[in-house]
Amino acid sequence: MRIDVISIFPEYLQPLKLSLVGKAIERGDVVLKVHDLRDFTHDRHRTVDDTPFGGGPGMVMKAEPWGQAIDAIRQKGPTGVEPVLVIPTPSGRQFEQSAASELADRPWIIMACGRYEGIDARVSDFYSRHLEVQELSIGDYVLAGGEVAALVIAEATIRLLPGVLGNAQSAPDDSFSPNRPGAALEGPVFTKPQVWRDLSVPEVLLSGDHAAISAWRAAESIRRTAENRPDHT
Ligand code: 6GU
Repeated sequence: MRIDVISIFPEYLQPLKLSLVGKAIERGDVVLKVHDLRDFTHDRHRTVDDTPFGGGPGMVMKAEPWGQAIDAIRQKGPTGVEPVLVIPTPSGRQFEQSAASELADRPWIIMACGRYEGIDARVSDFYSRHLEVQELSIGDYVLAGGEVAALVIAEATIRLLPGVLGNAQSAPDDSFSPNRPGAALEGPVFTKPQVWRDLSVPEVLLSGDHAAISAWRAAESIRRTAENRPDHT
């Protein structure tokens, strides 16, 4: 999979070099390129924003640098594949596990990280004529820019690629995975020692009775989901 991220703060994407995602990049399972939006400006001040038409607070990202950047990246990219253009924005569709799963099947993702009050809407409109464009929100709160959301979307997607997780069984059991009907959340987990401070591991987990363990885990999962995420039951 190839991922191109465009941002005015390319350093924000550095965490992707670490851990499981970093290893996927080192192995070549993921090719990650981070681009500085200002490299696609042509004025002395490398301007990326301007005041909003219609008035109002804040600044809006200009369409032109985004157009230049996205066109250049599309031109240099692999031939015969079209990228999906992901635009992280709090006004987008809610990013969920199912969306990560779909993105994991795509060969090429371009992520456009806006700042300020967002990107001139014509960028999304224009590329929708040529590409699949997904405006995605990672939750009901407002961040200062799309970079952290891009990190979230990239990590959730990349960990689903074949060979990225150490234990192939891990992803299908995840919270919110489609094979957890009525029990969206995973239950509690324990490791050694058997007693820590005054707290013991639940007896059933030491029983060796795999059917009983599965039943207990399923019950815990349903209990936790009802308690923490009533919207998921
Ligand atoms: Cl994708 N961007 C910003 N700036 N804020 C957000 C978000 C995205 N998702 C939730 N809040």
